[in-house]
Amino acid sequence: MAKFMLFLLLLGIHSLLLFQAQARICMSCDMFMNGRCFHGEGKCVMEEGGACTTRDIYLLNVKGGFVYNHTVLECSKPCKASKETYFHLKISSFCCQSPDFCNRYKGKIVKQYAN
Ligand SMILES: *[C@@H]1O[C@H](CO)[C@@H](O)[C@H](O)[C@H]1NC(C)=O
Repeated sequence: MAKFMLFLLLLGIHSLLLFQAQARICMSCDMFMNGRCFHGEGKCVMEEGGACTTRDIYLLNVKGGFVYNHTVLECSKPCKASKETYFHLKISSFCCQSPDFCNRYKGKIVKQYAN
């Protein structure tokens, strides 16, 4: 009986280590600008097959060009690098899978125009 308990314990420890080896932590933030989170800072755990995501949000200006406004950081699954344009909004998405918090380095540092 004691042997069986030990076996279960080892099995538990083993799966815990396995889980920790795979889990990646990403930064989450609703309003990230110039390398800093101004609103909604937190962490999220990347799911298997998912990624840490960076979304640069651009807004249409009066001249009809898109101007960088802020960045959103999150975990997503699936994560697909993309550029999507809505009426007055453009969202540029990037994905990364390592290291932990890799998405915090991808946010735009300076205001820029994007085509
Ligand atoms: C643009 O950024 C400002 C902060 O500089 C923020 O308050 C505002 O909500 C953002 N606009 C949009 C449409 O997300």
